[in-house]
Amino acid sequence: MTRVDYAQLSQTIAALTDGESDTVALMATITCEVHHSDDRFNWTGFYRVVAPEQLKIGPYQGGHGCLQIPFSRGVCGAAARTGDVQLVADVEAFPGHIACATSTRSELVLPIFDASGDVIAVFDIDSDLPNAFDIEDAKHLSEILSRVFSVK
Ligand code: SME
Repeated sequence: MTRVDYAQLSQTIAALTDGESDTVALMATITCEVHHSDDRFNWTGFYRVVAPEQLKIGPYQGGHGCLQIPFSRGVCGAAARTGDVQLVADVEAFPGHIACATSTRSELVLPIFDASGDVIAVFDIDSDLPNAFDIEDAKHLSEILSRVFSVK
């Protein structure tokens, strides 16, 4: 079972994204590096805010993801709506969870902000294992994301 080395992951992403400002290039690179860093990560990717209260799929790895998610639905919607990290140990217990893959058991969703503090996207990691994520994962991944994107 491969477990992520966050120091290594952070260094790799910093090196790969150095000097890059294109959002799709950044999201695609982060997705690839994070997804392959840990066997717990079965679906990894971004949903972007494309209209008021509306998320649309961005770069991802794993099985197909739903194309659109309103802010009112799912774990991703909750992260976009509240601006808070969503650490969901059991997706069955989360009201309005969207099951793009029925194998998903737990999720970690992190909001991404622009310089003025508005949510511009969320980063979603889904695991087929129950209770796969902890606060350390949230902390390290938030740091990696805020180094690449503007922060609140
Ligand atoms: N996990 C999300 C839906 C997106 S996917 O599963 C790829 C949610 O409930 O917000």
